[in-house]
This record gives sequence, structure tokens and C-alpha cells, in this order.
Amino acid sequence: MSVVLLDQFQRPLRNLRLSVTDRCNLRCSYCMPEPEYVWLPREDILQFEEIERLVDGFLALGVDKVRLTGGEPLLRRDLPALVERLAARPAIRDLAMTTNGILLAEHASALSNAGLHRLTVSLDTLQPDRFLELTRSRDLHRVFEGIEAAAPLFPGLKIDSVVIRGTNDDELADLIEFGKRYGAEVRFIEYMDVGGATHWSMDRVMSRADMLARLTERYGTLEPVEEVSSAPADRYRLSDGTVFGIISSTTEPFCQDCDRSRLTADGMWYLCLYASRGIDLRGPLRAGETPDEIAAIITRAWESRRDRGAEARLASRDRSPLIPIDTLRRDPHLEMHTRGG
Ligand code: GTP
Ligand code: 5AD
Ligand code: SF4
Repeated sequence: MSVVLLDQFQRPLRNLRLSVTDRCNLRCSYCMPEPEYVWLPREDILQFEEIERLVDGFLALGVDKVRLTGGEPLLRRDLPALVERLAARPAIRDLAMTTNGILLAEHASALSNAGLHRLTVSLDTLQPDRFLELTRSRDLHRVFEGIEAAAPLFPGLKIDSVVIRGTNDDELADLIEFGKRYGAEVRFIEYMDVGGATHWSMDRVMSRADMLARLTERYGTLEPVEEVSSAPADRYRLSDGTVFGIISSTTEPFCQDCDRSRLTADGMWYLCLYASRGIDLRGPLRAGETPDEIAAIITRAWESRRDRGAEARLASRDRSPLIPIDTLRRDPHLEMHTRGG
């Protein structure tokens, strides 16, 4: 039995987002819009064994959900081998991954064979010209091929769409209809002013309320799905039974139930998406600290945690992008693509 660590607001440590690379093969306008980025030094990137040792520390302290993220996780060489090693740990009740889908067709069956439980694909538009504008890539067809390959292997596949007013806010119903073809649950995500979102402004956010109004026009009554969960999405059911979700991080944040933290590819641990500083776990690991010593670092940090980043942003009056670009260049850890989306 593992312990239950509680933070200052009685939130348990349960959910670990594990970024396996800060690199990405797309340049989404809400995440990596700049022409150039400063990458994490290669020698700092954790080896699989190092990741496993840190994950074991987290599992002993109560984590039972792990989500692999990036950047784009499928850019990490041999990722299915890491999945296989993690899937062998029964303490991980839920092992998931979020990918942009570009490399998914090649890797879907290896990931499934390796024991990955669940998969989420990010997809914001079904239109190739818009995809080009949003991501600077012409490879939308590869994302479709990836979903086609993965859907039969990962029942309950999810599709995440960041909604940006004036860019893709007219595609909500099209995305739901696309999801239906694959039995995939679509979740609409409010555009967040996280590090990396240097083009963010409040007037580009489509709120949950506006999304619901738009979808009600098209589908009629939307029935809220009643459930108790720490997951960020609120779910709704259409009259034909189709379920979709909305993640309203910007206008109605869910910090009070937040049980998640993030480990970057170079072993910095962040207690909140919006945290300006992380806790270095690579240093102690490489210095040969014992598992008990690392567990003590994690325990101390979680027990002092008071982060409510998205709520604090909501309360701040003058809302502009969170972090200016020159500050981001000085510390790539502030970027959303380093923290794992
Ligand atoms: P499930 O376990 O399937 O519910 O996954 P999830 O919704 O936790 O994970 P996913 O990676 O699909 O997250 C979807 C999106 O929600 C992310 O890309 C972020 O935009 C947002 N999000 C995830 N975690 C957090 C968080 O801790 N805080 C805030 N404010 N937003 C988050
Ligand atoms: N706003 C909302 N979601 C974001 N993501 C990245 N940047 C943002 C942002 N500014 C999330 C998206 C994407 C995942 C990888 O990270 O959900 O699908
Ligand atoms: Fe958790 Fe921070 Fe996201 Fe709030 S903003 S839900 S505290 S990670």
C-alpha cells in the first residue's frame, strides 16, 4: 500500500505527467509560435532507467496515473520500450499518452503491444489549409491516418481540440462528427495563457459558455454527464448518446481538485502548469541520492504545495501572455512544450 500525500489544500498526489522530450514536429500557434526555440541540453535528458527510478519514487508516494507527453512523445527514440517498462508496474493503474498524431500510424501497434492503456490525439482542425496555418505543417493526412490506425487498438480514444476564436471556433460540430466515426470522445480546450502561448489574448478565448451555446444551436439540448472526478473535462451528452467534453481551464479553472504534477524530460518537477519554478530531481538522482532521500524531497514539496495557477490567473486583472518571450528564451522550462501540455 502506498501512502496518501496531501498538499496544503488537501489535494492528493496521484497524477504524473511525464514529458519524454521537449521537441516537437509541429509548431502550434497556441504552444510554439516562435521561429526559434532553446532546447534542453541532450546530456540532461533522463535515460529510461532514470525515468523508471523517479517514477517508482512517485508510485510509492501515491501516484497511480501516468501520462506520457512531450513536446511530441513519439519523437523520443524507442518510446514503446519505455511504455513496456512502465506498463509492467501494476501500481500504474492508468498509463496514457497524448500525441499530435503525426507519427502515430507507424507506432500505434507497437504502443498497444507494449501495454499502453489509453491514448489522446491532439487535433484542432479538419481543414488542411487551417492545419497549415495553425501548425505550419502540411501533414494533416498523417494525423488522420494515425487516428485510423489507433482507434481500433485504443477503445475510448480521445481527441483534444484547443478552440481559438476566429481560427477554428466554427469547427466544433465537425470535430464531434469526426470523433463519432472513430468512437472517439472529443474534448474542447479553452485557449490558455500558459508559458509558450506568446500570442494569447483574452478575446481569442472561446469560453465554455460560448461553446455550449454554439453547440446547443446545432444539436439542441446538451445533457451534462453527472460524475465525480478530478479529470479536467466536464462532459456532456448529445441526444444520440455521443459524449464530448470541455476543459475550461481559462474561464472556470479546476485547481481545487488538481492532483497532477509534471516531470520534464530533464527531470525538473513542476507542481503546477503555471509554476515559475520547478524542483530539480535529476541532480539528486545523478548525485546518487537514495530512493528514500528522493522520496523525502517529493514529500516535502507536495506537502507544502499551495499552487492554484489557473485560478490566480483568472483573478489577475490585467491579462496578457503569462511570460514575455525574452524570459522564455532564458528558461525553456517555462514553455508549455517542455512542461508537457
Ligand atoms: P484524462 O485522464 O483522459 O482525463 O486526461 P487529461 O484530460 O488529464 O489529459 P490531457 O493530456 O488530455 O489534458 C488535456 C488538456 O487539459 C491539456 O492539454 C491541457 O490543456 C489541459 N490540462 C491538463 N492538465 C492540466 C492542469 O493541470 N491544469 C490546467 N489548468 N489545465 C490542464
Ligand atoms: N492552451 C490550451 N491548451 C494547450 N496545450 C498546449 N498549449 C495550450 C494552450 N495555450 C495543450 C493542448 C494540446 C496539448 C499537447 O497541450 O491540449 O493538445
Ligand atoms: Fe493544477 Fe495548476 Fe492546472 Fe490549477 S493551474 S489545475 S493547480 S496545474
